[in-house]
Amino acid sequence: MDKTLKSGRHLTIHLKTTRGRRISSQRWLTRQLNDPYVHKAKKAGYRSRAAYKLIEIDDKFKFLKQGAKVVDLGAAPGGWTQVALEKVGPKGKVIGIDLTLMEPLQGALLICGDFCDPKVVENLKSVLEGEVDVVLSDMAAPSTGHSQTDHLRIMALAEEAFVFAQDTLRAGGTFVVKVLQGGTEKDLLGLLKKHFAKVVHFKPPASRSDSAEMYVVALGFRP
Ligand SMILES: C[S@@+](CC[C@H](N)C(=O)[O-])C[C@H]1O[C@@H](n2cnc3c(N)ncnc32)[C@H](O)[C@@H]1O
Repeated sequence: MDKTLKSGRHLTIHLKTTRGRRISSQRWLTRQLNDPYVHKAKKAGYRSRAAYKLIEIDDKFKFLKQGAKVVDLGAAPGGWTQVALEKVGPKGKVIGIDLTLMEPLQGALLICGDFCDPKVVENLKSVLEGEVDVVLSDMAAPSTGHSQTDHLRIMALAEEAFVFAQDTLRAGGTFVVKVLQGGTEKDLLGLLKKHFAKVVHFKPPASRSDSAEMYVVALGFRP
């Protein structure tokens, strides 16, 4: 709860329930408990409800093929990596990277590191063994609560991911990247249109309607 003091200063009060839980975390818990995707993900053994976002994106654009090589940027806790592993099968290859250490996933190569660190990116490139078919980025920094700051931070990650995609994708490859609606995503869209045959914005049904999040899907890379 926000309150303006007589002095004009702003005070944020974190209300607690009787059991000491903050109202905001209570709200988060209620939303989780009522979210059908959370239940579906748990039942299917996916590590996150986000897995359904990639399933829905791929259902529409069909780029995760058997035998494909996929890089998953911002992979933790691993829902997208699990989906990618299922789709590419035993002949495919999935490499995930995240700031957070992930529990191993059979068949995936998981790297713990900061994608904004050039040394980490070089290390990631060194394990790719040639060009890749798909670059995915679901990277997002923790929300600051200030929408413009969040937007700029996520767009900076999206731009880094695009530079990486340009360096590593094969001709005809696919790039999928999370963005937040808020203005500058149009600049990225313009840039992507120069390098891909088809570029679209897509909000999968699993992406919460009250979230500004959406995905740019870029198909048919032209090196
Ligand atoms: C929305 S979560 C990804 C969820 C994941 N796609 C899944 O299905 O489980 C965003 C992730 O981006 C990661 N991330 C943010 N900034 C990063 C960076 N600079 N380098 C690597 N990972 C980053 C966060 O640690 C976080 O785990």
